[in-house]
Amino acid sequence: MTTTDPVRVQEELRFPTGFLWGSATSSYQIEGASTVDGRGPSIWDTFAATPGKVDGGDTGAVACDHYHRYPEDIALMRRLGLPAYRFSIAWPRVQPTGSSTINRAGLAFYDRLVDALLEAGIQPLPTLYHWDLPQALQDNGGWTVRDTAARFADYAAVVHSHLGDRVTEWTTLNEPFCSAYLGYFSGVHAPGETDAAQALRALHHLLLGHGLATQAMRAQAPANHKFSLVLNFSPVRIDHDDPAHREAQRKADGLQNRIFLDPVVRGEYPADVLADIAHVGALEAVVQKGDLEIISAPLDWLGVNYYSPTRVAPAAPDYVPQSHLPGLRGVDMLPPRGPLTGIGWEQEPAALRDLLVWLSEQAPGLPLLVTENGSAFEDVVTPEGRIHDTGRRNYLVEHLRAVHDAVSAGANVRGYLAWSLLDNFEWAFGYRQRFGIVHVDFETQQRTLKDSARLFADIVRDNTVPPT
Ligand code: FCB
Repeated sequence: MTTTDPVRVQEELRFPTGFLWGSATSSYQIEGASTVDGRGPSIWDTFAATPGKVDGGDTGAVACDHYHRYPEDIALMRRLGLPAYRFSIAWPRVQPTGSSTINRAGLAFYDRLVDALLEAGIQPLPTLYHWDLPQALQDNGGWTVRDTAARFADYAAVVHSHLGDRVTEWTTLNEPFCSAYLGYFSGVHAPGETDAAQALRALHHLLLGHGLATQAMRAQAPANHKFSLVLNFSPVRIDHDDPAHREAQRKADGLQNRIFLDPVVRGEYPADVLADIAHVGALEAVVQKGDLEIISAPLDWLGVNYYSPTRVAPAAPDYVPQSHLPGLRGVDMLPPRGPLTGIGWEQEPAALRDLLVWLSEQAPGLPLLVTENGSAFEDVVTPEGRIHDTGRRNYLVEHLRAVHDAVSAGANVRGYLAWSLLDNFEWAFGYRQRFGIVHVDFETQQRTLKDSARLFADIVRDNTVPPT
């Protein structure tokens, strides 16, 4: 990935006709009702209930109570004129122990949700796995064992055959990076393990689960159904264009981005990354003959989540930095550069532009959808009940201009979904970090449009992003 000219800032930019707009959420972050209608426990229920794992001891037990308030939330989307909605399906609602037994009451919630979305003229974009693994499967090894991939494919087939008469767009996984690395290596996400080899095994089984699930769903799907995977990317930035810096960049980019993309679009793990992580001795042990063909079966589109870049510098060859990347050595991770968002993440819209252009070069012809992008800032509710979230508005406009730049440069980007519709349970940060374009008062469950939501509604209506 190379740095390019800064985005132009002075004119309105119109997106191509048919560009898809919407917002995104995920099940554990918004649904609540964690013990209602037969839902089984997930690894996030267990993790959040463990002292010290989540800021403020917050859990998703109630969250935005979307399980009960979904009609109101759909009405909000309608009011904002959002044509599409990306949400996730909670595996432990559908299969409380992750295998065999199907919980009809859990599936019925997604019937109600999908029917209400369609009724409101909003296209449902479900993701089958956004991190809430049934706890029973984790008790059996979770993603570190191959069987979980097979269980995931069974579950995907169940949901697909149930909702497939109404839903045509299907996403398997959200961000296997986070499930594998944050869940099994840095341990900041459920299940909170800290073992590099387990993380790399989990990575492979997640990708295999994606491949098997896609295969199972395609086998029973009509021709108009589309299948996708959502990956998160963080372009790696260096301060000097010399061989040592480029080498540090190569290593970090390999483990951060290419180890997820290459198996999917090329059918192979990148050789240089395999060499970098050979000392962990993990992937060789779990990759079986035929896996990569399954993982690389053609996708209909790729979901791209982007928030911020990663900065690195070279270090001594055996130096192990504090990072989320299992097996990384010889690289120094640099702190983000300001102005940061409220969660402390760097803001670099040009990296989104470069990323989308780079992805279109890596996978020519593959449609891309920005499935998540957004920012957390502290919000102040004025006495009149307004939220003037200037930081979030600016982030939105700057990143949309970067997306437009990528489209102008020929990137195959078909749409943009704002993260997130609602303030919600932001994983290890609990409710303190607010990513919503709609404010949620977690005491009263009152929803209030922020200025960013009003601006986004205008952008969507006009298919045009204003100057910064
Ligand atoms: C992404 C996750 C999403 C949300 C945003 C801020 O990594 O997919 O659930 O937490 O980050």
